[in-house]
Amino acid sequence: MSASASSSPKPKYRPETRLVQSGILRSQFGETSEALFLTQGYVYDSSAQAEARFKGEDPGYQYSRFANPTVSMFEQRMAELEGAEAARATATGMAAVTLALMGQVRAGDHVVASSAVFGSCLYVVEDYLPRYGVTSTIVDGFDLDAWRAAMRPNTKTCFLESPTNPTLEVLDIAEIAKIAHAAGATLVVDNVFSTPLWQSPLELGADCVVYSTTKHIDGQGRCLGGVVLGSEKFINDHIHTFIRQTGPSMSPFNAWVMLKGLETLSVRVHAQTDTAAAVAVALAEHPKVTRLIYPGRPDHPQADVVAKQMRGGSTLVAFEVAGGKKGAFAFQDALKIVRISNNLGDAKSLITHPATTTHQRVKPEQRAALGITDGMVRLSCGLEHPDDLIEDLLNALKAV
Ligand SMILES: Cc1ncc(COP(=O)(O)O)c(C=O)c1O
Repeated sequence: MSASASSSPKPKYRPETRLVQSGILRSQFGETSEALFLTQGYVYDSSAQAEARFKGEDPGYQYSRFANPTVSMFEQRMAELEGAEAARATATGMAAVTLALMGQVRAGDHVVASSAVFGSCLYVVEDYLPRYGVTSTIVDGFDLDAWRAAMRPNTKTCFLESPTNPTLEVLDIAEIAKIAHAAGATLVVDNVFSTPLWQSPLELGADCVVYSTTKHIDGQGRCLGGVVLGSEKFINDHIHTFIRQTGPSMSPFNAWVMLKGLETLSVRVHAQTDTAAAVAVALAEHPKVTRLIYPGRPDHPQADVVAKQMRGGSTLVAFEVAGGKKGAFAFQDALKIVRISNNLGDAKSLITHPATTTHQRVKPEQRAALGITDGMVRLSCGLEHPDDLIEDLLNALKAV
């Protein structure tokens, strides 16, 4: 028996309840809080039990690279939150993305990915997969005809991120899933920017969802982590053995931190989204802000797609400051509360200038095509009082 998450016919509690109650494995001590099973291995009552466990005939744990009770609790909670049959936790978000893609392909296969994905994900698709004989096509993710045209008989999977980093544009997941399926391929969605609360890609037709749990799920800047979610079949066919044999497993300590993060995820994401929406209102008409993108505003470039596939906006706001790079740097350097950092989803508000940090290696013409201008900054709103944050932002704009 796999000790990891699997589907169970439980009542469908609301997300807030699942975030606190799902997946608990209480020990014989009846602890209230999830126990941290900081153990590499497990002992057996007898040689016969060890033999049976290795044969898969005795339920239980063997080794924490395969499964661990604290990690299982995290996987089960994530699966129930996402509405997935199964989940596997990984050491980082990049491990989750790499597993989700590499687990599905063989030499001779083909992958299609949206150009607007996190830089390291693009690296995996464009640089690593071809080393193992897997070709790839990068498309403008907003152009459905480009997805259709990119499909080949050997296309095994499609990959996208929505909302995109850093411009917070939104791709039509349901339509892209239909195109992938019509070609016999699967769709993997990186759902980091929306969090499980605001968007459910599996319900929209995706076959697999991945998260960097480093972001909102930890939410307090402590541990790296990732998770891959899908049907029992998807996880068993593509992920289960790959993770056991190659070893990018999540540490029990990090899983424990993530479990505690999940307990407050809804409270934090609601508050941070409200703050981001208030920031968007305060900055949208500011004379030194030349462009602002926030999912949920009527002027969002894909407002119709946001309305049909998202339940909430975003904890992030992307905006362009007048004066290009010089203006953006002057603005960032004048901030007192918001700190300059490339991370996101944290309790502390963080800002980054993508053109010189996260997207520095992207060619200028490619950056321009993605709308990442020299004046653009990406703000991740934290849990500070929104009025203090807005005051900080408005004061810093005076330096532009
Ligand atoms: C959208 C997205 N996907 C994947 C990752 C990778 O996650 P990690 O840093 O946990 O490996 C990140 C962040 O770095 C991200 O922003």
